Amino acid sequence: MKPSDTPKTYRVKSFGCQMNVYDGERMAELLDAKGIKPAAEGEDADLVVLNTCHIREKATEKVYSDIGRIEKAGREAGKKPMIAVAGCVAQAEGEEIMARAPAVGMVVGPQAYHRLGDMLDRAVKGERSTDTDMPEDAKFAALPKRRKVSPTAFLTVQEGCDKFCTYCVVPYTRGAEISRPYSDLVDEAAKLVDAGAREVTLLGQNVNAWSGEDDKGRLQGLDGLIRELAKLPDLKRIRYTTSHPNDMTEGLIAAHGEVDKLMPYLHLPVQSGSDRVLKAMNRSHTAESYLKVLDRVRAARPDIALSGDFIVGFPGETDAEFEETLSLIDAVGYAAAFSFKYSPRPGTPAATMDGQIAPEVMDERLQRLQAHLNRDQLAFNEASVGKTCDVLIERKGRKPGQWLGKSPWLQSVFFDSDLQIGDMVRAELVHAGPSSLQGRLLETVSA
Ligand code: 5AD
Ligand code: SF4
Repeated sequence: MKPSDTPKTYRVKSFGCQMNVYDGERMAELLDAKGIKPAAEGEDADLVVLNTCHIREKATEKVYSDIGRIEKAGREAGKKPMIAVAGCVAQAEGEEIMARAPAVGMVVGPQAYHRLGDMLDRAVKGERSTDTDMPEDAKFAALPKRRKVSPTAFLTVQEGCDKFCTYCVVPYTRGAEISRPYSDLVDEAAKLVDAGAREVTLLGQNVNAWSGEDDKGRLQGLDGLIRELAKLPDLKRIRYTTSHPNDMTEGLIAAHGEVDKLMPYLHLPVQSGSDRVLKAMNRSHTAESYLKVLDRVRAARPDIALSGDFIVGFPGETDAEFEETLSLIDAVGYAAAFSFKYSPRPGTPAATMDGQIAPEVMDERLQRLQAHLNRDQLAFNEASVGKTCDVLIERKGRKPGQWLGKSPWLQSVFFDSDLQIGDMVRAELVHAGPSSLQGRLLETVSA
């Protein structure tokens, strides 16, 4: 690679989960701190960071085609943009990317991106570098301070996963479970609130497995952290995602009934309703134990909106086992959900299991599953009509004069009133659609 000028503009493109969105924001802050500016909308950036996701289908091919597209746009503009590949594809396939894509100057894994600045200095000198180390916990301390944020902010509290579900690549790309220290998190949350955040979503692959010592040396679980953050006066809402059923502690369930700022929404993936499939997935819970957890959560917070993740077509899944998943869905009545066709991930145990399911069977199962989920989501939204609730305004809607915010139950609510980003408004929910509601503004509670 030839030496080049220090880039003046950057763009970070994040794919996949909310953890990647958070990492993307932190990489942007790091580049800001080096005096590089975000490229304007539509402008070709001098440096493009592809913050990739490896969880499902064709992730790697997508990265190569993105690289090709960036190179082509650069050629047409007479430029040679610098390209960095970050995220989970970088972690899993870093060496290969370096070998196959000469245009890529930097490959950096999710646990090493605090070193992106140094890698950039080397890239300017013409040196390509790969960093997929997993140094323990050094990253957050080395990152620059939080900058101005939107009214809703993400805060990564826990990373990695020790659960080793047999289909999942996360334990390999994100590494072992680590919890960030309590005081760092209280500090970062306070800074986010000072910078304008009114809602903070605590993030982790297994966020409810977070634990840490508080300032008095007592061991706290996620509920202890939530109770502490709830003391920040200008923080109005707390959410967390994603959780494992086995880590739903008594304390966390109780917090749902006791902490007003903890929003009535729980994303609790189950993946399948068949105990045989759950065992083959190494989920370490059964359909029944999962439903029992939900019963306890509902007892603590009766209006809670429940959400889940589902995989159809796990190797060996029979029609009857798939039907068990539909029965579980019918028993729960989810307010929202994410559903996927099983995708073999290289290096995971399930990828080499017997009984891989034909694509057309997966398609058909996914369609049937989603019909059940869509039915329940619409029913949940329809049952909300007539309710009065607070909505935090997040952005303009697509139509002129339209504003969009979230209800406590994480539903999108549209308004045709003159509002501002960051307003907390009191609203009546007047009309329900499959994925959003119309709100009628009653009053602005706070701005
Ligand atoms: N194939 C399909 N879906 C997957 N997920 C994770 N790994 C795979 C895979 N190999 C889904 C799970 C998980 C969500 C984040 O992605 O449902 O909860
Ligand atoms: Fe993947 Fe299972 Fe860990 Fe979730 S709990 S990140 S699905 S291994």
